Amino acid sequence: MAQSWRPDSWRSKPFIQMPDYKDTQHLETVENTLSKYPPLVFAGEARQLKKNLAKVAAGEAFLLQGGDCAESFAEFHPDAIRDTFRVMLQMAVVMTFAGKLPVVKVGRMAGQFAKPRSADMENQNGTELPSYRGDIINRINFDAESREPNPERMVQAYNQAAATLNLLRAFSQGGYADLHQVHRWNLDFISDSSQGERYEDLAMRIEESLQFMAACGINERTASPIRETDFFTSHEALLLPYEQALTRIDSTTDDWYDVSAHFLWVGARTGQLENAHLEFARGIKNPLGIKCAPDLDTDRLLKMIDLLNPENEPGRLTLIVRVGHDQVQEKLPHLIRAVEKEGKSVVWSCDPMHGNTVKADSGYKTRPFDYILSEVQNFFAVHRAEGTHPGGIHLEMTGQDVTECTGGAQEITDHKLAERYHTHCDPRLNASQALELAFLIADELASARKQAQQRA
Ligand code: PEP
Ligand code: CO
Repeated sequence: MAQSWRPDSWRSKPFIQMPDYKDTQHLETVENTLSKYPPLVFAGEARQLKKNLAKVAAGEAFLLQGGDCAESFAEFHPDAIRDTFRVMLQMAVVMTFAGKLPVVKVGRMAGQFAKPRSADMENQNGTELPSYRGDIINRINFDAESREPNPERMVQAYNQAAATLNLLRAFSQGGYADLHQVHRWNLDFISDSSQGERYEDLAMRIEESLQFMAACGINERTASPIRETDFFTSHEALLLPYEQALTRIDSTTDDWYDVSAHFLWVGARTGQLENAHLEFARGIKNPLGIKCAPDLDTDRLLKMIDLLNPENEPGRLTLIVRVGHDQVQEKLPHLIRAVEKEGKSVVWSCDPMHGNTVKADSGYKTRPFDYILSEVQNFFAVHRAEGTHPGGIHLEMTGQDVTECTGGAQEITDHKLAERYHTHCDPRLNASQALELAFLIADELASARKQAQQRA
């Protein structure tokens, strides 16, 4: 029998990767304040996402999840939100067109602030200070005051998340995502690249299809998906005081939902079965993700699945596999076979970012684009061999023209990283690299579709 769950039952379990707030009184005041703030998302929306993800689990849709590694207060700007949103629209269109599958779009946005760190302390020239843990916890500047965890930052994170979501809702429902705008989504700095040109070709074909459909009487007035789209939000459920304060009972079902985002995931470092993060996650009804790192064995994976999805509800659980380009061929088949053997319904998603981080000679943390492509290709190859659905992709990306990952059509080299390296945490794909990857996935989805047709 599972033990009873409460939004605060995680507090009696061991936890790691959370800050030690010195002023506990202040922390409590902030938690109280947040617990009275309006929900950022509705339970009904989380249920809709779960339904969409159930389609992914059944092989009838594809998941695109992407956004910043860490959102930041300093980089908060409507253009950044718009540009990430539009690249995701472009990617979704590219993949839908090739794969003839709906794409479920989920941003790592409007709440992706807290970061797990490999070391609690950071040492610079002999001075040791607590590590930066994301803007919701402390500041990135290297001085004692900045690095002190400050609960007040949760309120600022909430406000930024609310404003971000407001804009995302406007973009997705207010005409920006209308398929007639497909040409306009091309960002200036990629429009004359090979990716940009390939995208333009596709946009023309979509335009022609829309004209044909309009002539048949199907247009934005008769079919709302032409005019608007669904866009969901997600982040790592790491800072549990914040998540708890935003966990509410849904009056229509009497179930608990974490209304800070539609989708929450448990990170690779906080997936211990007996610990607080899984305890918190198991009680909320949102769709959930778990990161699968190379050290995850099938035994623990199956226990996590049982804990988080005891009723084997399709769409509840997404396994986000991030083992690295050189390990996916070896590790993924074991995970897939174990899950298949037990008849568990999951979405298989590929995070080709977190297993492919290297330190460049210049000292920057980077990710070679070739490794990322290779992990994605291997992910598709393994699923092809196992006969399972390669359900989705999980990316750290931005619509900005940054230079954080090496390679890609722009041929970003190690010594170019310094030019526009803006991330607050891990290196992200820029818009050109993200689109290049989308075309590769589109080709994979198209060939998977052909294969399925041949089998049928
Ligand atoms: C992340 O997604 O930013 C992250 C920290 O990933 P992981 O838990 O897989 O290392
Ligand atoms: Co990251």
